[in-house]
Amino acid sequence: MIAGVNVSFPIITVDGPSGAGKGTLCHALARRYGFHLLDSGAIYRIGALASQTIGIDLDDEEAVASLCERLEVDFVPTENGVSVMLNGQDVSQLLRTENVGMAASKIAAYPKVREALVNCQRNFAKSPGLVADGRDMGTTIFPAANAKIFLTASAEDRARRRVDQLLSIGCPASFEQILADIKARDYNDCARTISPLQPADDALVIDSSQMTIDGVCQQVNDYLKSLSLV
Ligand code: C5P
Repeated sequence: MIAGVNVSFPIITVDGPSGAGKGTLCHALARRYGFHLLDSGAIYRIGALASQTIGIDLDDEEAVASLCERLEVDFVPTENGVSVMLNGQDVSQLLRTENVGMAASKIAAYPKVREALVNCQRNFAKSPGLVADGRDMGTTIFPAANAKIFLTASAEDRARRRVDQLLSIGCPASFEQILADIKARDYNDCARTISPLQPADDALVIDSSQMTIDGVCQQVNDYLKSLSLV
């Protein structure tokens, strides 16, 4: 289903706070089942980066929303995952910086920005299926999804994982700074009035704090099988 309209392929939503392991889980599911992948966080990040690049004031909701409505984004599959192209330039690395994450979190609280990006996100739903990664996939973008997962973990565990991830790509990272950023983003995501971060009523909630990614994937695969989706 797309927003209540029946479609003939499964839509699986994975929501949760930053650093809970959603990205890894969603990539694994999409690869395993040959489904399309929507990284909705990347879309908010692109909106923020594009605004900053052309000098739009991030306090100007109208201007940011108007740019988001016109964004031309391309997700190009590569051997290592996906490259994100903005105006012909590969911005994949730039998008992952904390600075862009914080800017994304700021513009994501604007109702007009969220409205401007709804169709862009729903357009990712295509046969043979979609795995949608975000904060409001199961509550707002695909409320009639066939399976909904809410993946969470303690802020400290998420900060530790993020530091390890940054170090592995050669970026210096401070645990205290990352933890403070994660808490600030949690606050922004949970406190906003439009599409706040919260599990859908019918979501399977998984706390990955004490779990390996393989354990999470196993639990989700069992859940999808129990629903006869895979
Ligand atoms: O998931 P990621 O960290 O890339 O998302 C960047 C920011 O975009 C988040 O901190 C969140 O504020 C926002 N976001 C959102 N709704 C989504 C996906 C991301 O508000 N569906």
